[in-house]
Amino acid sequence: MSERREVAAVAMAGLAGRADYPMYVVTARDGEEASGCLVGFLTQCSILPARLLVCISKENHTAGVASRAGSLAVHLLGSEQLELASHFGERTGDRTDKFAGVRWRVGTTGAPVLEDCAAWTEGVVRQRFDLGDHVGHLLDPVAGGGGGAQGQLSFHEVRSLDPGHPPGDPRS
Ligand SMILES: Cc1cc2nc3c(=O)[nH]c(=O)nc-3n(C[C@H](O)[C@H](O)[C@H](O)COP(=O)(O)O)c2cc1C
Repeated sequence: MSERREVAAVAMAGLAGRADYPMYVVTARDGEEASGCLVGFLTQCSILPARLLVCISKENHTAGVASRAGSLAVHLLGSEQLELASHFGERTGDRTDKFAGVRWRVGTTGAPVLEDCAAWTEGVVRQRFDLGDHVGHLLDPVAGGGGGAQGQLSFHEVRSLDPGHPPGDPRS
């Protein structure tokens, strides 16, 4: 790592290590398959019009599927959904069909909507941005609702999970 990058990483770690935020599962479907991963880099970025920015690592299996999909579904995880977080965050679609054994349906935009979550939104991809090692997907929400799960799972509760595809993964 260059010295400049190292300084930036240390400066970020001080901020990002302290901040807490909700965790989501983001899903996508192209003509061939459904894919999804655990995501923390996700935020509302406009009120009127309502818009969401979803950042997906280029290393992830989901990155390829999301790049070919016209829409994504975003699911806020409930406080008791650590197992689902591990399922989508510690496994990779390169080797596993994560949707086998998970309750889901095809949403109005064609994105896979998980039945078990705290809340969900489906959004049409308006624009994509190269952000570095992640791609930002700007979503126009078109449908959404509540799930049965209570509370919210946050980053500090899942930070010890081992990502199926760590950033800069030499396997990919
Ligand atoms: C705490 C935590 C936060 C994560 N945040 C993100 C994120 O914001 N964006 C992302 O693309 N991947 C994120 N990941 C990584 C993916 O969820 C993980 O590598 C997953 O296994 C990729 O699955 P896939 O290869 O099937 O897409 C996170 C993982 C963990 C454990």
